[in-house]
Amino acid sequence: MLDADFRSAKQFWEPFYENRDRPIPFFPNKPDENVVANVDAGLFRGGKALELGCGPGRNALYLARQGYQVDAYDLSETAIAWAKERAVTEQLDVHFECRSVFELAPQEEYDLVYDSGCLHHLLPHQRIPYIEMIQHALKPGAYFGMTCFAPGFGDQGGPEHVMHDWDVYREKSMRGGLAFTEEKLRYLLEDALECVELRPMKAMGQEEPYFGLPILWATLWRKKY
Ligand SMILES: C[S@@+](CC[C@H](N)C(=O)[O-])C[C@H]1O[C@@H](n2cnc3c(N)ncnc32)[C@H](O)[C@@H]1O
Repeated sequence: MLDADFRSAKQFWEPFYENRDRPIPFFPNKPDENVVANVDAGLFRGGKALELGCGPGRNALYLARQGYQVDAYDLSETAIAWAKERAVTEQLDVHFECRSVFELAPQEEYDLVYDSGCLHHLLPHQRIPYIEMIQHALKPGAYFGMTCFAPGFGDQGGPEHVMHDWDVYREKSMRGGLAFTEEKLRYLLEDALECVELRPMKAMGQEEPYFGLPILWATLWRKKY
């Protein structure tokens, strides 16, 4: 009933990836700077990884290059086709599949779950099942990494304000993606997970080998034992 008032996410995301030449910051095949930092710091050490809303697969491919066995899902068939092509080109074995994150039911199998920009496109009522799924997916002590919009970046292409959840339903729109305060993220995640890091993502130039935009939070959480 709550979903019914909104345009379907699949209808939006399917054509989004059709023109690969568009200057979308996350189209180039570069991993998030925070993922690389966590690999370099020895926190992400391999094992099984799950990427949620993987788009054309840039983080999944990077994790596979680091030795992870990766399952990566996205709503968009077009994005998954692109991700698979990238994997073939790089001779990487990644399980890319077109599926909604709400169809997944993993059970304590992953050493790492990663979400770069998926949660902030989910409706408020979808957050609890999403976070519960992630909590079930993680092994005890395993990591959940996530980037999502921070408020105050209206001049740089991000949201200026945190929308009240009620306003999402009143306006029948997420205005292109929801911003979260640090308090809201902690409120959503801290029951199940402990916060390891919550900081603005570092700005990375186009010429740099990693992706980073300060309009996003770079966060890392760990499932409690
Ligand atoms: C901002 S894009 C980020 C893509 C990718 N993570 C990246 O950073 O390159 C958000 C992605 O989430 C995907 N998505 C949104 N809702 C989803 C859902 N319910 N299940 C799976 N993927 C979803 C969209 O198709 C889109 O590719």
